[in-house]
Amino acid sequence: MSRYDVIIIGAGAAGMMCALTAGQRGRRVWLIDHAKKTAEKIRISGGGRCNFTNIHTKPDCFLSQNPHFCRSALSRYKPADFIALVDKHGIKWHEKKLGQLFCDDSAQQIIDMLLTECRNAGVKLDMETTVSAVEAHDDGGYRVYTSRGEADCASLVIATGGLSIPKIGATKFGYDIARQFGLGIVPTRAGLVPLTFTDDIATRCKDMTGLSVEAEVRHGKRMFAEGLLFTHRGLSGPSILQISSYWNEGDELQINLAAGTDVLAVLKDKKKNNPKQEIHNALGEIIPKRLAQDICDALSCAGRLADLPDKKLAAVADAVSQWRVRPNGSEGYRTAEVTLGGVDTDELSSQTMESKKQPGLYFIGEVMDVTGWLGGYNFQWAWASGRAAGLVA
Ligand code: FDA
Repeated sequence: MSRYDVIIIGAGAAGMMCALTAGQRGRRVWLIDHAKKTAEKIRISGGGRCNFTNIHTKPDCFLSQNPHFCRSALSRYKPADFIALVDKHGIKWHEKKLGQLFCDDSAQQIIDMLLTECRNAGVKLDMETTVSAVEAHDDGGYRVYTSRGEADCASLVIATGGLSIPKIGATKFGYDIARQFGLGIVPTRAGLVPLTFTDDIATRCKDMTGLSVEAEVRHGKRMFAEGLLFTHRGLSGPSILQISSYWNEGDELQINLAAGTDVLAVLKDKKKNNPKQEIHNALGEIIPKRLAQDICDALSCAGRLADLPDKKLAAVADAVSQWRVRPNGSEGYRTAEVTLGGVDTDELSSQTMESKKQPGLYFIGEVMDVTGWLGGYNFQWAWASGRAAGLVA
């Protein structure tokens, strides 16, 4: 029987940060994961360059049933702390936009950095290790039954992430453990995910596959102004991924495809100064030509500006600036970047991530009901929550 101070299940972003932090305190740490390779999500993140943090991180950029929960951990481990670690390892990085920091070279550098830190802190890491059961001892501590044998520990940390991208190792293990010990789960759903359509919008999106525009996408009071991408299944791009985390089935979204432009004013101006110009050409000078033609076709609007009443121009302007769409669903966990919901934060200490009712049991990272916006926020949460638990577990 092996004995450890801390067993961490899940060698992803949060698990590795927790392991190196606990190891640096002199704790005997066993970090296990069922996958072949560590931190596959870091490897594929940010298009292979890992958007490892966001310098504008603040609690407002996170979704949770308890929006205040993330405050403490985020304030104690800031983007600057992670940047200092990255700098210590000589990893070159740049800000792409909106405070999003990426490696200049490769996401693998972040994984290697975490592995080096874990090694230096004496963490024992075993991949391809499955866990069949977890038991709590009556007098404190846990026994973990694994494919490498049984092991006892004082602190058990669950860092198994969310449900997105099952083909690289995502499982519901963390939620099962939470349920086993009587912790509540906030219902989960895919977040930061492309949205799909079944109506005529689906056909229009298919026709415009690959086209991208800068757009403002609104859901209630929430608005994101970033790129929007037409795909063969619907809409994607950063603005859509962001709003998808706020969208619920049946909800309508309002999209401005010409952010910052008063389309009606421009069309009226063109009508005055260039009356012979065809409407689709006039609109094609404001938004991409393919999109302009599609909108004119959808409204059956054709001909010279001079021949079109202002009412018709207003309808065209509305179709551009106040496009209302009702997605029928999302692409789901297959392509989602994150999982919304998870282990209920009311059940956990915001200082340490420890279960309030089950001493010695911790949940960190995406498995819990804290989900960040697109742009490096989710990794910052993984680092901050992993660190918070690693300091005490
Ligand atoms: P994570 O998923 O990283 O790790 C969980 C680990 O647990 C995995 O190694 C898994 O194999 C293991 N595991 C699962 N079940 C297990 C079981 N039953 N037994 C043993 N081990 C088990 N975020 C960001 O901030 N910037 C970015 O650039 C991106 N980009 C990005 C791209 C794509 C394609 C995706 C899918 C996601 C992102 N993200 C992101 C989100 C980010 O990857 C995610 O929020 C963090 O990886 C979450 O870290 P965790 O450690 O909680 O889980």
